[in-house]
Amino acid sequence: MSVSRTAKIISGKIIADQIRSELIVEIEALRRKNVTPGLAVVLVGENPASQVYVRNKRKTCAELGLHSFDVDLPADVTERRLLASIDKLNRDPKVHGILVQMPLPKHLHEQKVLNAILPEKDVDGFHPVNAGKLLIGEPGFAPCTAAGCQELLLRSGYDPAGKHVVIVGRSNIVGKPLAALLMQKAAGANATVTVCHSRTRHLAALTRQADILVAAIGIPEFITGRMIKDKAVVIDVGINRIDDPTRASGTRLVGDVHFAQALKKARAITPVPGGVGLMTVIMLMRNTVSAAKQQTSR
Ligand code: GUN
Repeated sequence: MSVSRTAKIISGKIIADQIRSELIVEIEALRRKNVTPGLAVVLVGENPASQVYVRNKRKTCAELGLHSFDVDLPADVTERRLLASIDKLNRDPKVHGILVQMPLPKHLHEQKVLNAILPEKDVDGFHPVNAGKLLIGEPGFAPCTAAGCQELLLRSGYDPAGKHVVIVGRSNIVGKPLAALLMQKAAGANATVTVCHSRTRHLAALTRQADILVAAIGIPEFITGRMIKDKAVVIDVGINRIDDPTRASGTRLVGDVHFAQALKKARAITPVPGGVGLMTVIMLMRNTVSAAKQQTSR
């Protein structure tokens, strides 16, 4: 008789709520000093996914009592106008954090726009100064989704120290910063990290070596059961909307991992929705509170 196993579910909701409770205390302490952390969320154009993410970020600011400065610009905004908006936010002392939602319309140079944000207000951690600090292990802002993956692991009892972490995906937003975070000589890190991508040969042979497998490639259900080592911890960063005629909406959200197959192999796994996605926003709030503290303690 075969014994069927099922993985533990790592709840992004429970862990994000823990961090939210910690932030409420810090925000109250700042309020007593007459400081309200302020976050500017810049949205260019009408990308439907970006609209959802931005609405969620602004709503979470409101729930936590943070100031949200909404900047909505048309899809055909000139680079000059966008840079002028960022410059204004850089100079506004009530704005402690600035985020420009990615992706930007094609005519805008994303890295040039990100480079215009003051590093001390770059709560997304996308400015080259923060990316560099992350790599050399200096304090700075780490990208929110990557930092959220590390928090999920630590707070659910899976310290990456000495473990082989295989990350599938090499984006500047998740794969690269997560590799930098987890390979540091620091508490909560000390992992051996392998980064795989679309040109990786023998991908499954590598993913099957992972004690901790992170899927961040943006392809629905790409990681199948046979690519997962027995009892591995699986972190699914993907958020993909696929057709599902059995649903009233006609669609559903899935991750980059085939969840049903992974459940039978893994020790623990993050669900989609309800996993990493909930962490991104709360880590953004945490970076904004840190930015407010740093900018008002001088
Ligand atoms: N697009 C996808 N993820 C992110 C993120 O974390 N921050 C921003 N600004 N844009 C994104």
